[in-house]
Amino acid sequence: MIRNEELEQILETIDLQNDAPAQEPMRQYYFIKKAREIVAEESSKRGRPLTANEQTFGCQMNAKDSEKLIGILENIGFEMIDDESADLVFYNTCTVRDNANQRVYGRLGLVHSMKKKNPHKKIALCGCMMQEPTVIEKIQKSYSFVDLIFGTHNIYKFAELIVAMYSSDRMIIDIWKDTDKIVEDLPTERKFPFKSGVNIMYGCNNFCSYCIVPYVRGRERSRNPKDIIREIEKIVADGVVEVMLLGQNVNSYGKTLDEPMSFAQLLQEVEKIDGLERIRFMTSHPKDLSDELIQVMKHSKKICRHLHLPLQAGSTKILTAMNRRYTKEQYLELAHKIRREIPDISITTDIIVGFPGETAEDVNETIEVVKEVQYDNAFTFIYSKRTGTPAAAMPNPTTDEEIKENFDRLLKVVQETARNRVGRLMGEVHSALVEEQNEHDPTLVSGRLSNNTIVHFPGNTSLIGKIVDVRLVEAHGFYYIGEMT
Ligand code: SAH
Ligand code: SF4
Ligand code: F3S
Repeated sequence: MIRNEELEQILETIDLQNDAPAQEPMRQYYFIKKAREIVAEESSKRGRPLTANEQTFGCQMNAKDSEKLIGILENIGFEMIDDESADLVFYNTCTVRDNANQRVYGRLGLVHSMKKKNPHKKIALCGCMMQEPTVIEKIQKSYSFVDLIFGTHNIYKFAELIVAMYSSDRMIIDIWKDTDKIVEDLPTERKFPFKSGVNIMYGCNNFCSYCIVPYVRGRERSRNPKDIIREIEKIVADGVVEVMLLGQNVNSYGKTLDEPMSFAQLLQEVEKIDGLERIRFMTSHPKDLSDELIQVMKHSKKICRHLHLPLQAGSTKILTAMNRRYTKEQYLELAHKIRREIPDISITTDIIVGFPGETAEDVNETIEVVKEVQYDNAFTFIYSKRTGTPAAAMPNPTTDEEIKENFDRLLKVVQETARNRVGRLMGEVHSALVEEQNEHDPTLVSGRLSNNTIVHFPGNTSLIGKIVDVRLVEAHGFYYIGEMT
């Protein structure tokens, strides 16, 4: 990220009569200045500011990328609005399961009819789905009204791409297969003033056999620890009290750096930042979770009491076919060790049902693990076949009805365990970071406990962004009702 004052100083030195520099990020600063001119011209033609709207699908990485894209849009003069009637709409897509793709095609149908009424309207597509060549073919053929398509590796070029889009009537497509580049120091927006995601690594090298992410997000690259710390220091100075360190497999952070560093070491550096109150991270792969990390979490004052530890399946046969590289027994041993060392921690997970060859007995093993680990919450997904992944070529004799039955059986146990777990803090006093006014009842605010559970309690909006002590008075399934002490 770069602060506005710093950027303005640099922009003053740029002469648009010259060619764009080749070096990044200077090249993007040049295009930010140029894009400002274009946006100002378009606005004056219409006698009002140009508006933009973002639609983000998928995980926290995509949410973070959207903040960067919005940062650039606002910087070049767009006014962000909440609905798709805007002059520019961008869809930051996800392709982890097919239903995410279908939702995007649905939105495109709707926005096409809007574009027929407003021919100046621009439509941009980016994100994971765009890294799949078959998707691009389909869009070129059936959605030719789209103005701009780019992928996951070149979002930092958004200003340059916008200049290209407003200078051409043809569809602009810029997709990179992979990258080893990490371009920093661009403007960014933050959705919340008091908490923020921070990328610590990009891509994934694990190639779980069902998963498309390594193909669309490229090879694993860790950010330099100094850049991470500098970014956190800046946002803390701007009022952030909680950070979420983001990566597909944070436990393998730092292995590819020139001076290798473990994730646990990075956490210790982040802990030292004055003014930062809470540290979270996502996601942990069980195969790389070290004892060092457990000890650092145990002794930390800032790392939240929550670990998301995706199980995916409870049967070693399925785990092997998934290429997860741990057995049921290894996972259970790890979960028990974590509970033993950090008794107040909450553990959440992801589970896939219906992987090729998974039987009712295999799902029984998953249910056993759920009962034994006692997850505080679990996200359950029905397996979705992703073209190009090894699992897509595996035969699946299990019928859709059987898969649905297995899924429902699992879900029931997941919900029961979660309900029991969440109730266990009743009557205790815990600190909560107040995040928002309650949607349904404006006399309440909603806060998040260190273990990630939500508590609603009487309070006003002046509390938003503050960490306060709350007594947990009533447990309601997945959340508490409380009162400030
Ligand atoms: N890197 C993270 C997960 C990213 S994807 C990790 O390894 O934990 C988020 C979740 O989507 C995964 O944990 C998995 O449960 C689910 N998922 C991934 N591919 C899927 C597929 N093909 N079908 C169904 N669920 C899938
Ligand atoms: Fe996908 Fe596995 Fe990488 Fe997670 S670790 S993103 S599930 S390949
Ligand atoms: Fe989806 Fe891409 Fe995230 S495929 S889950 S948005 S990394």
